[in-house]
Amino acid sequence: MSDLTQVLTASGLVKAFVQGADAISVLQDISLHVAAGERVAIVGRSGSGKSTLLHLLAGLDEADAGRITLSGETLTPASNEARTTLRRQFLGFVYQQHHLLPEFTALENVALPLRLNGASQQDAQTRSAHLLERVGLGHRLRHLPAELSGGERQRVAVARALIHAPKLVLADEPTGNLDATSASELMSLMVELSELRSVAFLVVTHDASMLHQFDRVLTLIDGRLREADSVG
Ligand SMILES: Nc1ncnc2c1ncn2[C@@H]1O[C@H](COP(=O)(O)OP(=O)(O)OP(=O)(O)O)[C@@H](O)[C@H]1O
Ligand SMILES: [Mg+2]
Repeated sequence: MSDLTQVLTASGLVKAFVQGADAISVLQDISLHVAAGERVAIVGRSGSGKSTLLHLLAGLDEADAGRITLSGETLTPASNEARTTLRRQFLGFVYQQHHLLPEFTALENVALPLRLNGASQQDAQTRSAHLLERVGLGHRLRHLPAELSGGERQRVAVARALIHAPKLVLADEPTGNLDATSASELMSLMVELSELRSVAFLVVTHDASMLHQFDRVLTLIDGRLREADSVG
């Protein structure tokens, strides 16, 4: 089933964490697909495995069983090297706490994925400056993360996730540390950029007021994903 309109497919994902003699079963049998340009939310109680799932889908951790494809290419099972290459090419990731490099400016943070993909310094910086202007931070290019507000840092993180024109952005509670206004601004920005650039978003969120912005909402419960009734 290699359908190129699906930017992400996962089937039969299983994940348990072994601690001493115990195995903590977190994901039992996860299947999902995200179409090009689609916006999908994942909700679920704390500890239900949302971050674990996102890490598997990003190729940052390995499933015990199951299969994941990104843009039709196999992410799991694959070697570490192959996963890194696919991730750099097709994926962007936004964390709850920005994870920007503290000693790099906003511009350098955004330019990094392009540099890792082989762009020249000049080209990477020009494109990054444009995107930072697009997210309203043209006047903050040389600021370090510590010199930015929480909302500004998350906008830099969103720019960094999008700069290399990925097919899919995974975001783990990207608005979780923001006040209501900044959270709703960041969400609107992600929606706008997903439409403009036809990027799919898969977003973990606790914020019910955001859910109407998504095409679909999935609930993670007892290690499985369920399609929620339409909301909003
Ligand atoms: N490295 C690990 N070793 C052992 N157990 C882990 C590990 N990572 C996560 N877990 C356990 O797996 C379960 C799912 O964790 P996860 O972080 O995915 O939950 P979550 O849904 O993202 O929760 P939250 O909403 O609080 O962020 C938890 O019970 C957690 O304790
Ligand atoms: Mg989490």
